[in-house]
Amino acid sequence: MTQQELLAKAAKKVTENQNKIEKDSNRLQFHLMPPVGLLNDPNGLIHFNGVYHVFYQWNPFETAHGAKFWGHYTSYDLVNWQEQPPALAPSEWYEKNGCYSGSAVEADGKLILFYTGNVKNENNERETYQCMAVSTDGIHFEKKGPVVYLPEGYTAHFRDPKVWKQNGIWYMVLGAQTESEDGQVVLYESNDLENWKFKGPIAGGNLNGLGKFGYMWECPDLFRLSGKDVLLISPQGIEAEKHRYQNLFQSGYFVGNWNSEKNVYEHGAFVELDHGFDFYAPQTFEDAQGRRIMYAWMGLTDEHEAYQPTIKNGWIHGLTLPRELALKGNKLYQKPVEELKQLRKSTDFNGQVSLENEKWSDLTGSISELAIDIQQLNVKMLSITIRDNLKLIYHQDQGLLNLERKTFKDGTPETRSCELASLRKLHIFIDTSSVEVFLNDGEEVMTARFFADPAEQKISVSANGQVEMFIEKWSLQAFPK
Ligand code: FRU
Repeated sequence: MTQQELLAKAAKKVTENQNKIEKDSNRLQFHLMPPVGLLNDPNGLIHFNGVYHVFYQWNPFETAHGAKFWGHYTSYDLVNWQEQPPALAPSEWYEKNGCYSGSAVEADGKLILFYTGNVKNENNERETYQCMAVSTDGIHFEKKGPVVYLPEGYTAHFRDPKVWKQNGIWYMVLGAQTESEDGQVVLYESNDLENWKFKGPIAGGNLNGLGKFGYMWECPDLFRLSGKDVLLISPQGIEAEKHRYQNLFQSGYFVGNWNSEKNVYEHGAFVELDHGFDFYAPQTFEDAQGRRIMYAWMGLTDEHEAYQPTIKNGWIHGLTLPRELALKGNKLYQKPVEELKQLRKSTDFNGQVSLENEKWSDLTGSISELAIDIQQLNVKMLSITIRDNLKLIYHQDQGLLNLERKTFKDGTPETRSCELASLRKLHIFIDTSSVEVFLNDGEEVMTARFFADPAEQKISVSANGQVEMFIEKWSLQAFPK
């Protein structure tokens, strides 16, 4: 099908499903979602001519993975978003099974996308092409076709170009799998964005002192922050260890120093970015104010996917809130961008709360922001229960925060954990069927989807012991759609 035919077919799918989708009480109100079908990775994040662009992996035709389009939203303030025509549809031979993930840069006043053309050939073997598309208005893109081909020594799991400029040179990192099934990040460089030179791996399993570390690394992103080089990756094939790597796939980072001339990246240990259930394939960009902002897919291709209740209404998944990154020592801190304060519609509660072996249930709301400042804590457990579905339980003696939710399949509880030596602050965003919990000013974050009974609105706090805290709670508004 031509790009036009694919776009027309997708538009029809949107219209056909609109009524049903709009009535879904699990629809997110201040997060980006697909108008229909499946969304996964954020792509092409850029602040271009004063406009924030968020593209995303989109399968308009099913609530399953398939030949991805690039859906597109724009905003002036990271809060109010406008849906734009899809930027890319998989119409050409080099991308016929999906315009897979990638990034955006600005060059000569143009917005340029790099993405992976995913192909399954006649023998059902995978082929991969790193492609380029160019736009003058930021809305309509002209495809230029492949600019990077698979080098020797790698399987066709070679994708997700992230491009940037440093000291006058263009660089591209890609997620890769070696023929011996190690995950790697490889680097290319270019002077003109069209001719790319392979420089080799910069990090990977069995490299730089790291042992075996999964079988594939997806969605790399290398950027400078506070004088260091941070590399984000989404590795696959890491075994769970006590409280770490509990999801099927991980997302995290290394902090180090990258010598671009020698192409050597010395880095520390891998650190997970999020400790909830639903966080994957993060990507960052630098905006005009010099902030490093990250979005991630608030989902995962795991066993939960097929049970998400929104599937029956024709859509699935969303993106996280935009989070500003800061590096303190060798630790990344994440905080929701300032602009999100614009979402605050009314203050529902603002005051001191002291609890001693009791439960406090004065708060309600499913589109809410909650800021809890803990002044004194002497408990066995401090628990916050959200809408009779999701629980945050801090075990002070173990220094462990558990996030518990009801499984989508049959409602039995399941848990993710985060080691936290002390709990001083919780900043929680609840958006109908999602929660993002920022701990101690973004030291750790836990992100999850959860599907509560729409009638159940209560938020309660209970202390098994004694707690002194200051609580602020706002009702948030939906961004106009
Ligand atoms: C990560 C990922 C990427 C790929 C895209 C396809 O979730 O698997 O590696 O480009 O999704 O939608």
